[in-house]
Amino acid sequence: MSKRRPLVAGNWKMNGSQAESTALVNGIKQGLASVNTAEVAVCPPFILIPLVATLLKGSNAVWGGQNLSVHKSGAYTGETAGPMLKDYGSTYVIVGHSERRSYYGETDKLVAEKFGAAQAAGLIPILCIGETLAEREANQTESVVARQLDAVIQMHGIAALKNSVLAYEPVWAIGTGKTATPQQAQDVHAFIRGRLAALDKGVADGMRILYGGSMKASNAKELMAQPDIDGGLIGGASLVAEEFLNICRAA
Ligand code: 13P
Repeated sequence: MSKRRPLVAGNWKMNGSQAESTALVNGIKQGLASVNTAEVAVCPPFILIPLVATLLKGSNAVWGGQNLSVHKSGAYTGETAGPMLKDYGSTYVIVGHSERRSYYGETDKLVAEKFGAAQAAGLIPILCIGETLAEREANQTESVVARQLDAVIQMHGIAALKNSVLAYEPVWAIGTGKTATPQQAQDVHAFIRGRLAALDKGVADGMRILYGGSMKASNAKELMAQPDIDGGLIGGASLVAEEFLNICRAA
């Protein structure tokens, strides 16, 4: 077994009422005892965080934000700061999700700044990287993930990566039902780990690299059996307690 403890994180995206989220979290809590190995996390929308944080108190599951501001506080209407997440007891925060990059214009540089803001607030960033279908078809998968990763390394140094998680999320696999094959995912994960190893072997060996993109209970085992896949970042399938728990059990 890998020396890295797998992490399965649910990215709820912009989904859930208070009632639905309560039922979902209670369902997850009821099943946690049967999750042997994986660390379990959920990333709800900001407005549901007080509710979810309260429900999860005393359980083994942790939670994180889906985004954060680069600023600590101040006149930034509509933004949420890392220290605010920390104040509620956040462990993780997703940065650089492809939906943020494509719909909200987040550049590699801004994502790198958010990565730093997360760590400055005492949060563990889950840095998302991944190529679009056009980029894959143009054989640019490795150059794209390298560019996205290098932006963070250049700004913060390789040592900063020690306290972070990476998520490889091929954009063409997100919400499409089209999962990367275990081999396709493993190839990119191995490339990412190799790139880290060239700079710092310790960071590379300890880095949890999650796969994200249409992961569900039926394909989770095969994906997570790959040597360089250390868990999952789950979208749609994280909104159904039993499905999410089955992914956690598969890790
Ligand atoms: P899906 O699991 O819905 O494809 O979403 C993956 C994702 O974007 C997780 O961050």
